[in-house]
Amino acid sequence: MEHDRPVTRAWVLHPDLKSDFDRRAAGPALEEAVALAAALPDLDVVGADIVRLPKIHPGMLFGKGKIAELKEKFAAADVELVLIDGPVTPVQQRNLEKAWGVKLLDRTGLILEIFSDRARTSEGVLQVEMAALSYQRTRLVRAWTHLERQRGGLGFVGGPGETQIEADRRAIDDQLNRLRRQLAKVAKTRELHRASRAKVPFPVVALVGYTNAGKSTLFNRLTGADVFAKDMLFATLDPTMRKIVLPAGEEVIMSDTVGFISDLPTELVAAFRATLEEVLDADLIVHVRDISHAQTEEQAADVMAILHSLGVAEEAPIIEVWNKIDLLDSDGRDAVLTQASRNPDIFAISAVTGEGLDRLLSAIPEKLSDPKTEETFLLGFSEGRKRAWLFDAGVVIGEDQTDDGYRVTVQWTAVQKARFAQL
Ligand code: GTP
Repeated sequence: MEHDRPVTRAWVLHPDLKSDFDRRAAGPALEEAVALAAALPDLDVVGADIVRLPKIHPGMLFGKGKIAELKEKFAAADVELVLIDGPVTPVQQRNLEKAWGVKLLDRTGLILEIFSDRARTSEGVLQVEMAALSYQRTRLVRAWTHLERQRGGLGFVGGPGETQIEADRRAIDDQLNRLRRQLAKVAKTRELHRASRAKVPFPVVALVGYTNAGKSTLFNRLTGADVFAKDMLFATLDPTMRKIVLPAGEEVIMSDTVGFISDLPTELVAAFRATLEEVLDADLIVHVRDISHAQTEEQAADVMAILHSLGVAEEAPIIEVWNKIDLLDSDGRDAVLTQASRNPDIFAISAVTGEGLDRLLSAIPEKLSDPKTEETFLLGFSEGRKRAWLFDAGVVIGEDQTDDGYRVTVQWTAVQKARFAQL
C-alpha cells in the first residue's frame, strides 16, 4: 500500500437484476467487485452493498427510496466515489452523481482504471488510452441521442448541444488518430524490445489467473528475499519481471500479470491483450487458481477461454497451481491434495504459508524442457555471441571445432529455438 498518494473513499454497489439469469450469485459477484476496486492502490473501499433491482429506472437506475437511503449512507461514511458493478448510462451517471454528490464509475470505467494503473509497456498504456477514449466517445453519443429524444427534434437542426457534442467527438477522434500513429511506432519498437528480450537466455515463466487468485502473493514470495529464491531485478525489463534461481540452480524469469475477469467489456479486449504481452512470450504458463473459492471451476474456465482466444494456450505448456489450500477444511484439503498428487500438472500450494512451494519449484525445470528436439549446426568463428548464448541457455550437448567454425549439437525447446533465431 502506498501512503504518499491521496486516498479516495469508495463504496461498491452490485445491482442484482432479478430478471437476469446471472450464473454468478450476487454475493460472490459483490466480493469480486470489491476485490477489483481494491486492485486500485489509491482507493479505500469503505463499504459495499448488493442492491436488489427488480426493474431498472431509465433516468436514475435505482428507485427514489433507494437513492435517498444510499445518499444518507454515503454522507455518513464520507464517500467520494461510488463504483457500480454493471453498466450505467451516461444520463444515469450524471443524475446519480448530482443526487449523491459523488463521482461515479461503472464496471467498464473501473476496469479501465485498473488497466491504466497496471499497463507498463508503452503499448499497453496507449491501448488503454484508446480504449478509454472509445468508451468516452460512445458515452457522448449515447448522451446526445438521449437529449435529442427529450427535445423531440428530428435531428435536422443542430442545436447548441449537438454542436458541442460534435466538437467533443472531433477532439476525441483527433486524439484517437494521434494515439494510433504512436501505437504504430511503438509496435515497431516492440519488435526490437522482443529481440532484446530474446537475448536473455533464461526461460520466462508467466503467472496468470483470475483476479484475486493470489498471483502477486506467489510472485512476491518466489521473488522476494526467500531461501530458495534469490532475486535480482532486471532493470531493463518490465518491473513485473524478475529473475529467480530455482533450487537446483536453474535461472528463470518470473512474470506477474494483470488478473483475469469475467464479462470483460469488448472495448477492453485489445487493452487487456497488451497488458498480457509477457504471457504471449512465455515458455511456461502457470495458471494460479483460488481453489478455496466457490466458483473456482467457472473462473478456471474463463481464464482458459481467454488464453485460447489469445492463441497462447496451444504453444506453451500450462500447469495449474491450486492456491490457498490453507483455507480449506480438512476434507476439502484431503480431496485437493489427493487430486494434485495424481496429476503431474497440478500443484497444491499456499502462497501464504509456503506449503507445497518446494514441489512446484523443483518441477518447473522439467516442465520447461518438455518436449525437446535435437539439432546439429555450424556456427562461424565470428558468431561467438550466438555460441555464448547457447552455452548460457544450457542447451549445448556436444561441440566439435572444424576449419569453418564450431559444429554444435543442441537439445532445445521450440521456444528456445525461436528465441535463438531472433539473435
Ligand atoms: P489480482 O492482482 O487482482 O489479479 O490478484 P492476485 O491474483 O495477484 O491476488 P493477490 O496476490 O493480490 O491475493 C489476493 C488475496 O488473496 C490477498 O488478500 C492475499 O493475501 C490472499 N492470498 C493469496 N494467496 C493466499 C493463500 O495461499 N492463502 C490465503 N489464505 N490467502 C491468500
